[in-house]
Amino acid sequence: MTELLKVEDLWVQFTSKSGVVKAVNGTQFTLEAGRTIGLVGESGSGKSVTVKSIARLLSKNAKVTKGSVQFQGKDLLSLPEKQMRRIRGREIGMVFQDPNLYMNPIIPVGKQVMEPLLFHAICSEKEAQERAIEMLRQVGIPSPKQRFKEYPFEYSGGMLQRALIAMALIANPTLLIADEPTTSLDVTVQAQILYLLKKMKETLNMSMILVTHDLIVAAQVCDEIAVMYGGMVVERAPSQMFIKGPRHPYAIGLLNSTPRVKGEIERLKPIEGSPPDLRGDFPKGCLFAPRCPFKTTQCEEERPPLREVGKNHYVACWVDTREVSV
Ligand SMILES: Nc1ncnc2c1ncn2[C@@H]1O[C@H](COP(=O)(O)OP(=O)(O)O)[C@@H](O)[C@H]1O
Ligand SMILES: [Mg+2]
Repeated sequence: MTELLKVEDLWVQFTSKSGVVKAVNGTQFTLEAGRTIGLVGESGSGKSVTVKSIARLLSKNAKVTKGSVQFQGKDLLSLPEKQMRRIRGREIGMVFQDPNLYMNPIIPVGKQVMEPLLFHAICSEKEAQERAIEMLRQVGIPSPKQRFKEYPFEYSGGMLQRALIAMALIANPTLLIADEPTTSLDVTVQAQILYLLKKMKETLNMSMILVTHDLIVAAQVCDEIAVMYGGMVVERAPSQMFIKGPRHPYAIGLLNSTPRVKGEIERLKPIEGSPPDLRGDFPKGCLFAPRCPFKTTQCEEERPPLREVGKNHYVACWVDTREVSV
């Protein structure tokens, strides 16, 4: 398997009115060609900032203070913006949470879907139009020829997200980044969109990063899961291995607080406490220690590195949670 993407020791901070926000603090993961990784974690854990760093779409007040993002052997963080523009939308496709924010209301949907082909001068306008109609059909839009000419307001939320997926995929990217692509949609539509992403990923033989706060969704759609806490990956494992035996106390808590089947609500155990404050100086130990039922003095003194504990299974924790009980 060839390594498509390698995010190494990535640190990102924001300067805001309330001071410096340390959003990403040493994130690391790799993604092999043709595979899918799910970035999971509660709100504010640095998932979006991580994927925006990869695509170099961070806001002006953000600064990458350390680390590298290797994509097909190139360090994306040091590429000139002009070269990055050739990669975005062509090698790396993106889908975000709210489709309404990413569609221009006064341009027909089809014209927007074909735009990456014209921007990257991949084919003629006539061919781009044909390919856009075909792509709309592939993402499940009925009567794509008519729908091509319609405006965003004539589409439902789910249909618009399908069109955005078509736009993200039209140039046949190697990597698709989908950041909470179903969060703004109805529950029934969510499952359809996730199924579509999974199917398209297989048809087009791409790799995918799926950002979601839903661990079960991630496990169903992705080959691998990376759990983020306080801007770092605290556990990474193949999905099935992870679901059977998460090892990091936060990951265990996250799984226990995720409903798996209807009627299980009463058995759910929320994780006590609140997420770390990302402003100011961090404690020197593990960021999860204040909430951790297993913590020892070492946890408060020293930050645990991400270590391989089994084949393709990495955990950042000093404690072997299989050997302790609360
Ligand atoms: N433009 C910004 N300015 C200041 N802080 C930001 C900005 N964008 C994100 N952050 C902060 O970075 C942290 C991580 O955010 P984010 O990556 O969006 O989390 P999530 O895991 O929910 O996607 C949060 O504390 C958030 O408030
Ligand atoms: Mg986010």
